[in-house]
Amino acid sequence: MVVLLRLRANPGGQISPDEVIGRDKLIEQFWEILERQSLMLNAERRMGKTCVIKKMQAEAPEDKLPIYHDLEEVRSPLQFVERVLQDVEEYLSGLRRTARRTRQLLTQLSGTEFMGVKLPEVAAAHWKRLLTETIADLVENQNRKVILFWDEVPYMLVNIGGNAAMEVLDTLRSIRQMYPEVRMVFTGSIGLHHVIASLKKEGYTNEPTNDMYAVDIPPLSQADATDLASRILQGENILTNDLRGTATAIAQAMDGIPFYIHHLITKLKMRGGVVNATTITETIEDCLRDPLNLWKMDHYRERIDNYYNDEQRTYALSLLDILASTDQPLLFDGLFNRLQQEPATQNKETARTVLRLLERDYYILRHSNGFSFRYSLIQLYWKLLRG
Ligand SMILES: Nc1ncnc2c1ncn2[C@@H]1O[C@H](COP(=O)(O)OP(=O)(O)O)[C@@H](O)[C@H]1O
Ligand SMILES: [Mg+2]
Repeated sequence: MVVLLRLRANPGGQISPDEVIGRDKLIEQFWEILERQSLMLNAERRMGKTCVIKKMQAEAPEDKLPIYHDLEEVRSPLQFVERVLQDVEEYLSGLRRTARRTRQLLTQLSGTEFMGVKLPEVAAAHWKRLLTETIADLVENQNRKVILFWDEVPYMLVNIGGNAAMEVLDTLRSIRQMYPEVRMVFTGSIGLHHVIASLKKEGYTNEPTNDMYAVDIPPLSQADATDLASRILQGENILTNDLRGTATAIAQAMDGIPFYIHHLITKLKMRGGVVNATTITETIEDCLRDPLNLWKMDHYRERIDNYYNDEQRTYALSLLDILASTDQPLLFDGLFNRLQQEPATQNKETARTVLRLLERDYYILRHSNGFSFRYSLIQLYWKLLRG
């Protein structure tokens, strides 16, 4: 007998690997790619990147040594090295070893024996050597293939900024070349393309991740999303007249995005009563309109202010407004025609460039019959937001 795992709604919280629904095939593919090269996993925030890599860490094959760290809050190269060294030492201490080479270098740099975990300021200028030694200490002290799961690398790079960010990318690349057995898995919610584009404005010309295999993490398939919704509906003891039908409707309305499935069901539970098509639609609109921004959709609007230049911003907002107002895909000519009705958006090439950016930032899709919003949920949000 198959026992169905009932799940509690837990939007945005830590979930255990066995509560991660429907990523098995994807994870299998990732392990295959990792046999060969490093990985760059991109997806919109809350699509489930962290869940995927934590599950990979928890269930890694025996010949792999997975190490995970969330880098979103890292603000300098030295802090980055500090995190890596802590992870490496934590692992090595289990083997009754230390990061001997790194500690020797630190002792040499600071003139006294280095004991603690917090790196001294004198080490800042030598972070590249320290990082390389730390990886060397890890590789030399055990036999498994090291997989460094580094979550939200682009945020770290933005925080670090400028020249130092470029050097971090270059150093990581040279470590991958120096230690071909070491694999890195980066995730990123803001595309690395934005980060590299702004570095290029400052004169950066390298392609620091072109040895990594880039993959988009998609939403759950309709079947997996329905499965997730159905388990949470049961786990939360929610009344429906038709469990399967309700789960399917929720999965569809949430475009298969697991975070929103957890969230919507949480709201439905708070609302009480029997859930049906009408309560689902009403609850979704309430959530999207909620000024508390519980679904954290603001970033779809804010990203355009933060990462598009003045000219691009005007185009992006208008293009999304036009696409939000129609349920039919629009071909470029039709779209541009409508765009040109505003005096500020007359340039065809800018329109093309911005469409490309919107595509890379997951707002829209380009089909053979034209452009449309990628997710109906985001389209609905945009409509409600912009009236
Ligand atoms: N495969 C999944 N199965 C069940 N819930 C998931 C899954 N992926 C994500 N979630 C839910 O969505 C939330 C956000 O996922 P997370 O992995 O943190 O996204 P990201 O790292 O892409 O921002 C999680 O806290 C969890 O509630
Ligand atoms: Mg994450």
